[in-house]
Amino acid sequence: MASRIVVVGSSNTDMIIQAARIPRPGETILGGQFTMAAGGKGANQAVAAARAGGSVTFVARVGDDVFGEQAIKGFVSDGIDVAYVTKDAEAASGVALIFVAADGENSIGVASGANGRLSPADVQAAAGAIAAADVLVMQLETPLETVQAAAELAHAKGVRVILNPAPAQPLSDALLARVSVLTPNETEAELLTGIKVDRDEDAGRAAQALRAKGVGMVIITLGARGVFVSSDEFTGLVPGFKVQAVDTTAAGDVFNGALAVAMAEGQPLVEAIRFANAAAALSVTKLGAQPSAPRRAEIQAMLGR
Ligand code: RIB
Repeated sequence: MASRIVVVGSSNTDMIIQAARIPRPGETILGGQFTMAAGGKGANQAVAAARAGGSVTFVARVGDDVFGEQAIKGFVSDGIDVAYVTKDAEAASGVALIFVAADGENSIGVASGANGRLSPADVQAAAGAIAAADVLVMQLETPLETVQAAAELAHAKGVRVILNPAPAQPLSDALLARVSVLTPNETEAELLTGIKVDRDEDAGRAAQALRAKGVGMVIITLGARGVFVSSDEFTGLVPGFKVQAVDTTAAGDVFNGALAVAMAEGQPLVEAIRFANAAAALSVTKLGAQPSAPRRAEIQAMLGR
């Protein structure tokens, strides 16, 4: 049976401009190319998990508008259960404006719209799906009280919680104590701990500080270098895969979605992380968030499995 993943989180439509570089404040740059693509950290995680082989239920809010309709169609075509994706008549679907520079780096602004109205009651409505899941995956583009409510439900049923603390914001000890796997990048790890993550030793100290607050395992993502893991069974660097970056948008989301599947399948920790690293590396070779999430066969080919 496929691993059961529930993702609670955001859905956006991404308006992407590829330009030579990201404009500075007050500057106008001509010559960019426009693409519209499905995005939102939660939706990207859900799509990545589904394509990596998971059986995925998504809990989210979209607007009762053309973007929301399009987003739901996309989830359905990826085989995602949308029973808990609510169309909200009071708010527009989330939209992200994204600049992608020639080196693949990006800059993102998000109008959250309906994502900001995903409530603890929405999560409660999906309590049965969460209780039956192998892994619950979340990020921070929906209200923190909703994230906390979902984490409590999962914890009460012994369901593992993967939390990607992005976009960066301070988190309560009560929430951290409910997290099985926390996956910050260097900036997010620094915001959560006050420790600047420049070297592996710093990553180790930041991870320890988070584990002291009750987080089960910490995986600090280091971009192309790979990830630093701190867990009971393994501590150290798991290197990434070298690829030519076209667009790094959603690499972290794809990492988390694929990691959830690999962990739910019971893959040994380092293998699970290599699976997620391969998925993330493949995603940066293509433009767009959800268009870049790889299918399981591509991930396995990269791993030589
Ligand atoms: O992580 C990438 C995502 O962040 C984009 O798809 C955008 O929608 C923002 O939510």
